[in-house]
Amino acid sequence: MKMKHFTRLLSLFFILITSFSLANSTIVSHDERAITINGKRRILLSGSIHYPRSTADMWPDLINKAKDGGLDAIETYVFWNAHEPKRREYDFSGNLDVVRFIKTIQDAGLYSVLRIGPYVCAEWNYGGFPVWLHNMPNMKFRTVNPSFMNEMQNFTTKIVEMMKEEKLFASQGGPIILAQIENEYGNVISSYGAAGKAYIDWCANMANSLDIGVPWLMCQQPNAPQPMLETCNGFYCDQYEPTNPSTPKMWTENWTGWFKNWGGKHPYRTAEDLAFSVARFFQTGGTFQNYYMYHGGTNFGRVAGGPYITTSYDYHAPIDEFGNLNQPKWGHLKQLHRVLKSMEKSLTYGNISRIDLGNSIKATIYTTKEGSSCFIGNVNATANALVNFKGKDYHVPAWSVSVLPECDKEAYNTAKVNTQTSIMTEDSSKPEKLEWTWRPESAQKMILKSSGDLIAKGLVDQKDVTNDASDYLWYMTRVHLDKKDPLWSRNMTLRVHSNAHVLHAYVNGKYVGNQFVKDGKFDYRFEKKVNHLVHGTNHISLLSVSVGLQNYGAFFESGPTGINGPVSLVGYKGEETIEKDLSQHQWDYKIGLNGYNNKLFSTKSVGHIKWANEMFPTSRMLTWYKAKFKAPLGKEPVIVDFNGLGKGEAWINGQSIGRYWPSFNSSDDGCKDECDYRGEYGSDKCAFMCGEPTQRWYHVPRSFLKASGHNTITLFEEMGGNPSMVNFKTVVVGTVCARAHEHNKVELSCHNHPISAVKFASFGNPVGHCGTFAVGTCQGDKDAVKTVAKECVGKLNCTINVSSDTFGSTLDCGDSPKKLAVELEC
Ligand code: GAL
Repeated sequence: MKMKHFTRLLSLFFILITSFSLANSTIVSHDERAITINGKRRILLSGSIHYPRSTADMWPDLINKAKDGGLDAIETYVFWNAHEPKRREYDFSGNLDVVRFIKTIQDAGLYSVLRIGPYVCAEWNYGGFPVWLHNMPNMKFRTVNPSFMNEMQNFTTKIVEMMKEEKLFASQGGPIILAQIENEYGNVISSYGAAGKAYIDWCANMANSLDIGVPWLMCQQPNAPQPMLETCNGFYCDQYEPTNPSTPKMWTENWTGWFKNWGGKHPYRTAEDLAFSVARFFQTGGTFQNYYMYHGGTNFGRVAGGPYITTSYDYHAPIDEFGNLNQPKWGHLKQLHRVLKSMEKSLTYGNISRIDLGNSIKATIYTTKEGSSCFIGNVNATANALVNFKGKDYHVPAWSVSVLPECDKEAYNTAKVNTQTSIMTEDSSKPEKLEWTWRPESAQKMILKSSGDLIAKGLVDQKDVTNDASDYLWYMTRVHLDKKDPLWSRNMTLRVHSNAHVLHAYVNGKYVGNQFVKDGKFDYRFEKKVNHLVHGTNHISLLSVSVGLQNYGAFFESGPTGINGPVSLVGYKGEETIEKDLSQHQWDYKIGLNGYNNKLFSTKSVGHIKWANEMFPTSRMLTWYKAKFKAPLGKEPVIVDFNGLGKGEAWINGQSIGRYWPSFNSSDDGCKDECDYRGEYGSDKCAFMCGEPTQRWYHVPRSFLKASGHNTITLFEEMGGNPSMVNFKTVVVGTVCARAHEHNKVELSCHNHPISAVKFASFGNPVGHCGTFAVGTCQGDKDAVKTVAKECVGKLNCTINVSSDTFGSTLDCGDSPKKLAVELEC
């Protein structure tokens, strides 16, 4: 074949290929009303799942549960510091394989929203920024700074190119329908003066130049530079209106619960209130809504941000940390999603009219030629309402929205939950007794000599020295005291002004004490008596421990970490106080701990390192422990109980499952027995587990375990604890309850196990809660326990029709709506 013909054929082939992929491509755009996909206005329901907060083997199940829950899309951030741990050295392996994650979403037939940031906040270490970035010369984050902009552009481009190469943008036929640049910069822009505006304009231009073929989002960015789309984040976004009238109303983060700090309580946002916020959003013209988080997951390793974010990032999300359905949240939202989807056309194309029914009750009617859909919203925090709407009566409880897909019948009310509550528990098997070996962290010699691997005059900021390679940094100095030193007295103290999250102090090799941040006071003074100073050379050694770097706020990158001083010795003589400032001394720094540097947690056996099985110590600080164990049988998620331990880090077969700190209890007050879903939610409202460990149970992903043979757990105990109670369990559904309304169907299941017994059932006006249900003043004349047992016991799931047909007539219940209360044992 002649060359000319060949080239012609080749170009024909390319034209064919391009037109084929164009035919496959999805056009994502927007108008003032909605995001449009291939020209059709859409209601989009999305949920955040962060790929590194679970393991790759969990992704298909999590994504399928999201799909089954009625979502159209999965949203994730991209975590710069995880992917570029060293400048220009990248890691996209294992759980960091973001391309594989997006492809898994695609395989499930869902869309995806890619929030590149690369600033992400997200309670992630340093908000996703690598610490090396901060340590580059003349660096300033998130402003007009050439070095920063260059690095940000480099990483953003890298991610975009990776996605393009795999054809993952919708414009290429892939699942990514939206992308995000920056994150909530609008919240801090004013702190950056004129440079703030210039920076966000640059972000927009830079993103735009990457030509991804789908819209870019900028969340919490009023007046976002065009064509960026501004969006809202918060617990409620019904009151939000985009500043630009041609931008549709979008919600990138509907906070499904909240995150947890060490020393904090367990957050709890009710299914009723979450559903209310979603229904309100669509009642008021919303088009895209994303749950943050839909699955929160786990902060493995040292990825938790902060300061002080816990290892669990459960978030009280619809799917719990371990991948189980958080019921009733998941199911109650699923029902709402189905109803909203059935109204998609009228919600996105319909003419809108509103009727004020008085007393904070408003109806909204969306009308198209084909029909109409309605909402009746009661934002009154206490008063229930009986409203007459279009000639019919509707009971709309306080703080709820009724959804009427055809305006003539309530299909859903956000406060009427007909989904089961699943109470998760650990399995009841007898735990394996672990045989522990141990060894001390060998720091003593170094402390006594004050010898590190870096010397500087004066005190330095922790992250500037460690590059965050470790939580630990030793600050060591010497001080010569002679007999005549004016300081000498009976009453001498070591005083440290500290920003260390935890500080351990030693004088002449002897432990003086520790202090750690409580109640959010990150800047504190440590002062302890020292009565073993000597005439001559004294060694002062301070171990500064960080527990996650700050992730939020203007200029957060330069917030102090470690010991910034002053550090002094203080002598008290009667009325007189003499202070000897050591801050400007020569200080030796040692990054990390020996056991870490020697990888004591690694499974590759380090032959010469001896572990002892005698004289097993408890309450001993800076101690390593190791034990073998068998993986719990089955497929259920595995958890490990750290009750009895102090603070530290844990590894399973060499992989870090995160920091632990079960000895840190939350304060006793601030929890109530009853949680009222009505009224505005805030992160403290309905919090529970006051006065208990912030986190006692830790997730051990199945993929970290060998199903047969022995597994190894290694602990580094920093504060001192007793590992003898450590045990492995699986998380299962213990009890299932429901309180369903008449004329509904309720589905009951123990997830993957057969239902074993009916503990309680009554149809009428039962009282109490799950665990305390009791018969009310009336009930159906058939035996409810028998009826439910017949339908459910021995089965994986069952559906009960909540009606007097099923349970018999209820003579004395009057007109009030009847309910079925059930409690099942799994
Ligand atoms: C938002 C932020 C998220 C996350 C959230 C709280 O402000 O954009 O990344 O930090 O707060 O969970």
